[in-house]
Amino acid sequence: MRFQKIKGTRDILPEEIGRWQAAEKQIQQVMARFGFSEIRPPIFEETELFARSIGQLTDIVSKEMYTFLDRGDKSLTLRPELTAGVVRAFIENNLGKKQPLNKLYYLCPVFRQENPQAGRLRQFHQFGAEILGSAEPAADVEAIALSIAIYRAFQLDRFVVKLNSVGDAVCREPYKQKLREYLRPRLDRLCKTCQQRFEKNPLRILDCKETGCRTETAEAPKLADSLCDDCARHFGRVQQLLDAAGMKYELDFRLVRGLDYYTRTAYEIVSDQLGAQDALCGGGRYDLLVEELGGEPTPAVGFAAGMERLLMALDKIGWQPAANPPAMIFLAPLGEAAVLWAVQTAQQLRQQGLTVEIDLLNRGLKAQLREANRQQARFAVIVGDNELKAGHAAVRDLTTSQQNDVLLAELISYLQKACTN
Ligand code: HAM
Repeated sequence: MRFQKIKGTRDILPEEIGRWQAAEKQIQQVMARFGFSEIRPPIFEETELFARSIGQLTDIVSKEMYTFLDRGDKSLTLRPELTAGVVRAFIENNLGKKQPLNKLYYLCPVFRQENPQAGRLRQFHQFGAEILGSAEPAADVEAIALSIAIYRAFQLDRFVVKLNSVGDAVCREPYKQKLREYLRPRLDRLCKTCQQRFEKNPLRILDCKETGCRTETAEAPKLADSLCDDCARHFGRVQQLLDAAGMKYELDFRLVRGLDYYTRTAYEIVSDQLGAQDALCGGGRYDLLVEELGGEPTPAVGFAAGMERLLMALDKIGWQPAANPPAMIFLAPLGEAAVLWAVQTAQQLRQQGLTVEIDLLNRGLKAQLREANRQQARFAVIVGDNELKAGHAAVRDLTTSQQNDVLLAELISYLQKACTN
């Protein structure tokens, strides 16, 4: 019986892991430059945590979560995003009491049972950041600036920042009512899904991709025009700070995000190089979530970004991670005594921090050298039983094909010197 991977999951193979590791390193460096510390919450949590945070009516909670009962009949869910888990960890570990502001980042797998397509997977990876403890518009701008800085660090510049405000508890309900009144006479021209959204979740009708729905909502009242004074002031200041820092953005009244915890700022970074799934990253402010989950009232803002989508965009611009592999030594023993010597010597060379491959297939000299070349080794060390007896080895520089006889007693220091040249 042969098994296949689950639909919507991917094997990240050795041939592409270099790109992942280089990208991860770059992201970690930018996060550190902005003063963020890494947090790693568990992969699964109580189902209720996600239902409460993301919202019962959202697509994620109503149809995309991997939920299961454990042996104690407890309902658990593989995390479909990180914000809920980070907030749970923030509350449970009293992080808010230790310092007034917590700047946390993550880079890890998440799970959503969506219909797989290019840029949409069932297990994918998110990197993201959360700033907990500040209601200041400067914190929103810090999150936006961080996400932009990460893409820029990869020389990626074909993207657009879309910005909106989704208001707060004071102004959102009256706006929803206004929107319903506007849409009621147009209801039968909306798609089936939007008709269902009309009562409970009318905001999502604004970001429906169906042409009919887009036409009907084109002239709809805008939330940004219906904000209460506090939200309007906050939104204005976020824009002023973005302008002052030279960060370009487009206001987008359709941007409402697919998670319920947002208040005020909502933003996405989209790229025209990704096809239908064009969001590189999305985020915003969620001032009520910490309290909703049982913590002290703590304003917060953050974002998350798809790692696979970043890598897709990087493929489009021909990004190559800086390749700087360490010089490699290939030990090519010929004969039993030479194998024994090679095993001991590999051990010593590796202890000195050198990169060493050793033939494990008992191949002849020609095949071993072919393998050493295939692996782009810098040196091959050829030792047969005769060389052993005579106390020396042939060290071949595979870039110049020059070969030197080196005394075994001096081999380690010879290679150490040669590899640093
Ligand atoms: P989200 O918009 O659901 O937000 O996801 C963020 C990003 O994850 C998307 O922009 C996209 O790049 C990537 N993504 C989402 N679904 C998939 C998928 N099925 N396959 C591949 N990539 C995907 C959140 O998750 C929020 N927690 C963001 C946030 C953090 N808001 C505040 N803090």
